[in-house]
Amino acid sequence: MHLKEQIQSRHRDEIAERFPNLTPVLRIDSDNGLALDGSSTAGWQAAQPRPKMLQDYSATAATQALIENNLAWANGEAEKLGFAFAYFMLPTVCNQRCFGCFMGQDKHRLPPQLVGAFPSPMEISEVCGFLRDHGAKAVVYGGGGELFTWKGAFDFVEAVRSHGLRTVIFTNGTLLNREDVNRLNALDATLIISLRDSVETLHNAAVGRNGFVASIQTIDYAIEAGFHSSDRLAVEIPVTRSNEQRVLSDFLPAMRVMGIVPLIEEYILLSTSPEEQLRCHSFRESRAFFRKLRQKDESFGISWQVKFGQRIIAQPQCQRPLYSFAVFPNGDIMDCPSHSVRYGNIKQQRLRDIIYSPKFKSALKNFSVCACSVFFTECDSDIPQELPERLGCTI
Ligand SMILES: C[S@@+](CC[C@H](N)C(=O)[O-])C[C@H]1O[C@@H](n2cnc3c(N)ncnc32)[C@H](O)[C@@H]1O
Ligand code: SF4
Repeated sequence: MHLKEQIQSRHRDEIAERFPNLTPVLRIDSDNGLALDGSSTAGWQAAQPRPKMLQDYSATAATQALIENNLAWANGEAEKLGFAFAYFMLPTVCNQRCFGCFMGQDKHRLPPQLVGAFPSPMEISEVCGFLRDHGAKAVVYGGGGELFTWKGAFDFVEAVRSHGLRTVIFTNGTLLNREDVNRLNALDATLIISLRDSVETLHNAAVGRNGFVASIQTIDYAIEAGFHSSDRLAVEIPVTRSNEQRVLSDFLPAMRVMGIVPLIEEYILLSTSPEEQLRCHSFRESRAFFRKLRQKDESFGISWQVKFGQRIIAQPQCQRPLYSFAVFPNGDIMDCPSHSVRYGNIKQQRLRDIIYSPKFKSALKNFSVCACSVFFTECDSDIPQELPERLGCTI
């Protein structure tokens, strides 16, 4: 055997030993380390033509029904509101420093609205009780950093479960071991594990730490535990001008073959410096990117529509304030994690009174899509006329 073949064979053995569940979609090379690899997926066809949706989080037909009910309530035509979930925005710190993190963690700070205390058992109980009474199945951890830097993380997930709800967890995955993943599986949690690139050296440069191998390891443990078979595993990747080619040729195919929900989303420009903003797609680039994404999925037999306002693969434009709300550390109840409309404060009023209020009603009636990120437009004339200053670079 030639030296090159020997090295390749050693690499294949290393992968098979360490990542037995992800072996078909991984490669190692001497220059760039470990990487997701879409090349072995040629000719692969999905069993279902519809993209997989993530339990408790993806917008589906059921979400649309909730939206219609809530708008009817705002017009006095329905008695009761319905919710899919609520975000708990926790004051957690982070162990990574990702380039352009919209939570400001790369700049060693939490946004001011995320500074404060963790929710008390009474607050968790009130929010979960309200959600259950309104048809919700889950709470979403939407904190300012990494949930598992907090020693109370598992107690929180367990408390939510004891109130009859599940937890959807955004995590970089680096602090979880096999036992932790199995514990989360027993609690029926959903994991959204984030990557910044499909290649180890590039991902590590983007997160400011050697995190890639640990994140991939956690994805492997989650597959071993079967999260993907019950639609409770997604891998999220913010798309930039730098990584889009690998997202198309390696990330998306690898996710489809493994049955993991690919949460490919445009890079959001909040808390970003001018230099960080330069990596963001322009509206035209975003348009071309979504079309290529769609073509790639079609080659696997998976189809979805791309529509105005879309920011995430196979998901409609963001309408989360119409079927969820967010709880902040100071007790504020807000429309969404990006913190724009305040309905009231749970430390001063009952949650039920905050939600069944003229303020909430008026927010539903006046809802409009926020330009919090670059999103899909059909043509240049669809680009919103008025954009926040930070989006100037995206035209
Ligand atoms: C703020 S993080 C918190 C949870 C955890 N630390 C993580 O990275 O998964 C929540 C999600 O936001 C994503 N995110 C952070 N900055 C982003 C940006 N500028 N654009 C799009 N998504 C971003 C992350 O990749 C992650 O999936
Ligand atoms: S791991 Fe999450 S919270 Fe931490 S810096 Fe990266 S995106 Fe931000």
